[in-house]
Amino acid sequence: MSTPIIVFDHLEELDSESKYLVHKAKEATAHAYAPYSKFHVGAALVLDDGTIVTGANQENASYPLCMCAERVALYSAAATHPGKKILKLAVAAHKKNHKELSSATCCGSCRQVLHEVEMNQNNPIEIIMYTADKKWVKSTSSALLPLGFTKESMEL
Ligand code: THU
Repeated sequence: MSTPIIVFDHLEELDSESKYLVHKAKEATAHAYAPYSKFHVGAALVLDDGTIVTGANQENASYPLCMCAERVALYSAAATHPGKKILKLAVAAHKKNHKELSSATCCGSCRQVLHEVEMNQNNPIEIIMYTADKKWVKSTSSALLPLGFTKESMEL
């Protein structure tokens, strides 16, 4: 069963761990390499031992090689903290030289990667994002990717 998408009007309404992760995601935007889009994205995730791992988008002159902040954080967590479960991930973004947050909801590729991590660890990953209508949303990756493709599909 998927957790529904829960919508909050204000960041203050989120629990303190989620607010802290959003704060770390905002901080991580400082490490974005985004000379092409000028859209600076940060992601912060918390592991089951309390460790926080962050990521920021990394672009390339060969545009298809650009990597989203979420996947930078997810792959970094897998490479540096193998075997740990990811409990929650927050995303934050702003345009270059803008202090105000921009909406950043995980793209389809990140949802697919999140979904597989969630399936492998057999534990939901809570995701916190800021939407285009200026709401904060809390959900899980499987709720964000209904009928997602999994390795089980190939094993049938
Ligand atoms: N981007 C992310 O890092 N995460 C998102 O959730 C949305 C998009 C990045 C990819 C690219 O570097 C830039 O934002 C513009 O799409």
